[in-house]
Amino acid sequence: MKKSLLFLCLPLLLIVGTYSFTDLNDNKEDWPAYLGGPEMNHYSSLDQINRSNVSRLELAWQYNTLDSGLFQCNPIIIKGILYGISAAGKAFALNAETGKEKWRFSPDTIQRFLTNRGVTYWEDGDDKRIMCTYDQWLYALDARNGKPIKEFGNNGRVSLKSGLGKPESLEKKYLMSRTPGTIFKDLLIMPTVMLEGAGSAPGFIQAFNVRTGKIAWVFHTIPLPGEFGYDTWPLDVHEKGIVGAANSWTGMALDKKRGIIYAPTGSASPDFFGGSRKGSNLFANTLLALDVNTGKRIWHYQFVRHDIWDRDLPSPPNLITIKRNDKSIDVVAQFTKSGHVFVFDRETGKPIFPIKDMVVPKSPIAEEEAWPTQPLPTMPAPVSRNLITESDLNKASPDYDSLLKVFRGTVKGMFQPFSDKPTLVVPGLNGGVEWGGAAADKEGILYVNSNEVPWIVTIKSNAGLANMSKGQSLYVRNCSSCHGVDRLGNPLSGFPSLSTLKKTTKKVTVQEIISSGKGRMPGFPQILDEDRKAILNYLFDEESEKDKLASAKDVFGVVEPWDLKGYSKFLDSNGDPGIKPPWGILTAVDLNTGLHKWKVPLGDVKKYKDQGLPSTGTENYGGPIVTASGLIFIAASKDAKFRVFDKLNGKLLWEADLPTAGYATPSTYMVNGIQYVVISCGGARLGAAKGDYVVAFRLGK
Ligand code: HEC
Repeated sequence: MKKSLLFLCLPLLLIVGTYSFTDLNDNKEDWPAYLGGPEMNHYSSLDQINRSNVSRLELAWQYNTLDSGLFQCNPIIIKGILYGISAAGKAFALNAETGKEKWRFSPDTIQRFLTNRGVTYWEDGDDKRIMCTYDQWLYALDARNGKPIKEFGNNGRVSLKSGLGKPESLEKKYLMSRTPGTIFKDLLIMPTVMLEGAGSAPGFIQAFNVRTGKIAWVFHTIPLPGEFGYDTWPLDVHEKGIVGAANSWTGMALDKKRGIIYAPTGSASPDFFGGSRKGSNLFANTLLALDVNTGKRIWHYQFVRHDIWDRDLPSPPNLITIKRNDKSIDVVAQFTKSGHVFVFDRETGKPIFPIKDMVVPKSPIAEEEAWPTQPLPTMPAPVSRNLITESDLNKASPDYDSLLKVFRGTVKGMFQPFSDKPTLVVPGLNGGVEWGGAAADKEGILYVNSNEVPWIVTIKSNAGLANMSKGQSLYVRNCSSCHGVDRLGNPLSGFPSLSTLKKTTKKVTVQEIISSGKGRMPGFPQILDEDRKAILNYLFDEESEKDKLASAKDVFGVVEPWDLKGYSKFLDSNGDPGIKPPWGILTAVDLNTGLHKWKVPLGDVKKYKDQGLPSTGTENYGGPIVTASGLIFIAASKDAKFRVFDKLNGKLLWEADLPTAGYATPSTYMVNGIQYVVISCGGARLGAAKGDYVVAFRLGK
């Protein structure tokens, strides 16, 4: 009965329209979803703030979340209410006109720092929900009061592991989400994050029913037997439990009219060694075009084959319309960490600008099989430098000679596989383009910030783990990439030595640092109590006999022959990148022509600015937004400024000090006829002080 009814209704539905839920995007005063809406264009049609009055911008209000730390939230604003999530995963609602708190949701009794970039709004009549995540949980909250909605999942929450299969083997595997999901009708399609070493969870893409919390569909980013792409992995990839990830973590774009969701994925884990995942590894490092109703693949494009460099797709794609030969084409544009942008026809996946395969080096490691070729677009040019030579080194640096020596001691080249020799990666592991992504206007132009900081990466053979104690092997796996295998750190790069910890620091303090992090050090809430104790005992030379005798296999379950040894940024003693400025840039890329329109440094180093030197740009995190009046708003730089640029030429129109660096993407909205621009400022990275501020600006008199 039901089936035949549905069948009858289907043609009708197709005529009436493809979706019937409340369409939030129609209200141009709101910022209804992460990055401005499902097209992920960081765009607003508001124009009250414009070139002629932008100099009158002033502080409207400020809100403190009380959780100081990496605060990357892009708030959403719906009908005068702002919804966000703090650096400790606490969702909150504010009056968007005054910044006054309406409610706050605390999922935990202790303060854990699980950086999160925002929340998702859904409504059906009176049922209004905020969907947010904390740890492995997806919560549905009542948007009016922040209380969990009992009918959703188990008293208001479901596990983000629900659709991954094999519940027993997943129990100890770490998984969460830092990015808001995408709403389509009653579906919520969720990004996920897991660890990137051996034995991590698989990064399948899951659609949840937003009313019930039940799984609606799952797309296997590491295909199961019989599925397309299964033969791009070893046959035992799922059984062995070594390989995981290939997750979509950075946010997805949705073409509602066509019913297609575009999901970018990251590398498979272990991320720096692929000996257990020989093959091209579909659908890792891939842009997936999926039928949003069913999760079925329509087309895909893989950007890095058999990734062994952690070259995740760093940001959501942009859905825009461009003009080529007088024809309008709806395209999807995806930036990569290398700073290239690949542009495809949204329906067919056909590249708009030709893509060429380049032959790349073989791996020097016997256990690794690097893929022989990698694709690069012929246009547009990358927004970051991808190759540097000695002439790119910073002659003005006081450490030029030692930089040159370090530089000469590294292996170089795009897609150069890692080994036990230090390898220079340009742009560094965090990318050129990062999770901030690109803003796009209606004319087919992308505005994107990027970093110019080379990194040096070394991997190490794990043969030695066999002789290490439990605490030492856990230390080497979790901590040595920054603090060194010898515990001596790398003070030049800001990683302190831990060799005299016993004398300087209390055990409880170290325990807290391991759980919650400190300054630039991330917390390790995922390390089990027992393992944390073993690390502590090792650092304080108090290991038990039993721990001393434990084998690496007892400790980890799986041990790969090679593992990350360490990475550091290629910096001088001032903390500046070892190459000539600019170190951070904002670029306008015209996708109609494939050409860069303009490029300007983003951010200043105060010392050099005071000396009257040209702007150097700084490393930056978080993205820009663009408005109908032609303004680009961006914080992101480490100098804790908020800036407005003219989208036509990159001219700086206005700048103001923030309480600390705003490593986040701003939002703009209107309430009672006034346009506001709001930015989260958490600092806590690149030397910026920690903060918990949401800061809103409006035009003054
Ligand atoms: C991604 C790099 C990174 C990793 C991995 C890392 N740390 Fe840190 N750690 C840092 C940085 C940077 C600091 C300095 C933080 C500050 O003071 O701002 C630090 C500081 C510390 C301190 C305080 C030292 C002092 O003198 O104040 C301790 C203790 C510490 N780390 C232990 C660990 C342990 C144990 C692990 C492994 C579980 C670990 N770290 C993993 C980067 C890292």
